[in-house]
Amino acid sequence: MQGAANIVHKDTRKLKKTPNLLDYEKTYKTFNWQEAESEIDYFKDKTLNAAYNIVDRHAKGKGKNKIALFFEGQNGEKEKHSFLNLQKLTNKFANVLAFFNVKKGDRVFIFLPTIPERYIAFLGILKVGAVAGTLFPAFQEVALLDRLLDSGAKIVITNSVLYPRIKKIWSKLPNLEKVIIVERGSVIYPKDKRIFYFNQEMKKASPDFKIAHMKKDDFAYMLYTSGTTGKPKGVIHAHHDILQAVWTTKFALDVQGDDIYWCTADSGWVTGVVYGILGIWGLGGTSVIFEGRFSPASWYKVIQDYKVTIWYTSPTAIRMLMGSDVAVKEFDLSSLRFLGSVGEPLNPEAVWWSLEYFGLPFHDNWWMTELGGICIANFASLDIKPGSMGKPMPGIKAAIIDGDGKELPIGKEGSLALKPETVSSLMKTIWKNKEKYNSYFSYNWYISGDRAYQDKDGYFWFVGRADDVINTMGERIGPFEVESVLVEYPEVVEAGVIGKPDELRGEIIKAFVVLKAGVEATEELKEKLKDYVKKHLAGHAYPREIEFIDKLPKTRSGKIMRRVLKAKELGLSTGDTSTLEDY
Ligand code: WT7
Repeated sequence: MQGAANIVHKDTRKLKKTPNLLDYEKTYKTFNWQEAESEIDYFKDKTLNAAYNIVDRHAKGKGKNKIALFFEGQNGEKEKHSFLNLQKLTNKFANVLAFFNVKKGDRVFIFLPTIPERYIAFLGILKVGAVAGTLFPAFQEVALLDRLLDSGAKIVITNSVLYPRIKKIWSKLPNLEKVIIVERGSVIYPKDKRIFYFNQEMKKASPDFKIAHMKKDDFAYMLYTSGTTGKPKGVIHAHHDILQAVWTTKFALDVQGDDIYWCTADSGWVTGVVYGILGIWGLGGTSVIFEGRFSPASWYKVIQDYKVTIWYTSPTAIRMLMGSDVAVKEFDLSSLRFLGSVGEPLNPEAVWWSLEYFGLPFHDNWWMTELGGICIANFASLDIKPGSMGKPMPGIKAAIIDGDGKELPIGKEGSLALKPETVSSLMKTIWKNKEKYNSYFSYNWYISGDRAYQDKDGYFWFVGRADDVINTMGERIGPFEVESVLVEYPEVVEAGVIGKPDELRGEIIKAFVVLKAGVEATEELKEKLKDYVKKHLAGHAYPREIEFIDKLPKTRSGKIMRRVLKAKELGLSTGDTSTLEDY
């Protein structure tokens, strides 16, 4: 592999392993999802269950003693589980849920750190045919209430550290019947008949379970994601979506038999679910789960200790590694053979840096919560043009279109769209919001909301979001959610929130705040507002910058014009402001 001019050239004969996808062009032409079905298993009655594909089929076969999960806890404690063991544990948890009368279609949510119980619970939920929801551990009461109320979650699985946040809002959640507390770490035992304990229930449960037979489009998991307006939306994925998870893990992440794989994404987000659970175990692969905090040294140590071969991470993490003085050379990272990145634009410097320091380039890929799996990728066998997201996954038709749904010529910037019938893991609906679901489609395209262009060699290049959605550290944040929390603060009249470009985090959240008359605009108040958002919405979704202003730019109908705030912030032209009220 060598970097010449601005292309990373690949010589597939010199790679440590021959890539699963060796001939991209040929495969792209011949791939079809019907034939690809051979990669997943159905029951005799033609139904399936994603959890059976993830665990049981491997636990039955030769690979039953293969390690599925290596766990390292925050205090360095280690644990490992074979597929056979994972089968028993997930069956037990499915029995626990069945005993609690959880039925097909019920929503069960997981609010836990990165510990084995999070994965066991997720798969147990799938096995009973319920819908698994995951929650990011940084969520606070507003974010939790939005999701648990909208989904009507029946049970939440959490731990003693996070439970107090649920307790605060439980009275507002009429459907939440029970909380199951995982005893790992310190445990408190609140006196509440509706609270149960993970290990205590698991002890009573049988390791045998008759897995629910599900239709292809029956719901398996849901994740809330943010748009420009309104509360977060519940994106619903089905059992059959495992097909694309498996194929992309094979083709876009190049996972093979004895690879040791580490996807660093938290399973509160879609990457952590699809590539931390569905894809890797769907393929029968070995995955590392690390609870410890991020630091360059702790991450390099994980790679060294577990001899990680495939590493899937995010641009912000890569930039933090680049900016650190912890030397890559101090660790033996020679096990690595393929690096992937997702979530936000990967700047070309990051690719050159990894080539220099790891001897391997990062492979950027692109998708969205709604899409359920990688759609555009830089593949192991293809040259990389640093800064580009790569080419469509075999089976997927992607294009750049104009406002009338017409495909634009090479080089022209437009709306990045996909043919929905070619994305096998596309969401099935938006929970209780058909209208929102329908709004994604026009002229027979799925509209991503991203602006991009395609070059003459077929590579896609990301330009930016077409809407006001903020992408900070690879996480999608709706400006409305942050604004709503800010205006709850007694001294605040209104707030407008934008994403401001940031070298490290991609974007940071910046809030423009209008204070009540007579309130003094102090630095101290800014800190208080930041804390307020951290404590009420989520630890990661607070405005790192706050500016007090007298008035927000609004349309005549009263909508905040965030693009005007953004243009002002960046010193750009404010564009068409004819709909703007006097400002
Ligand atoms: C949005 C989706 C896909 C899992 C994690 C994020 C942005 C995603 C890239 C990339 C530039 C990217 C897009 C997209 N995005 N990957 N490789 N380059 N931007 O999932 O939270 O649903 O966000 O993230 O804007 O629409 P998500």
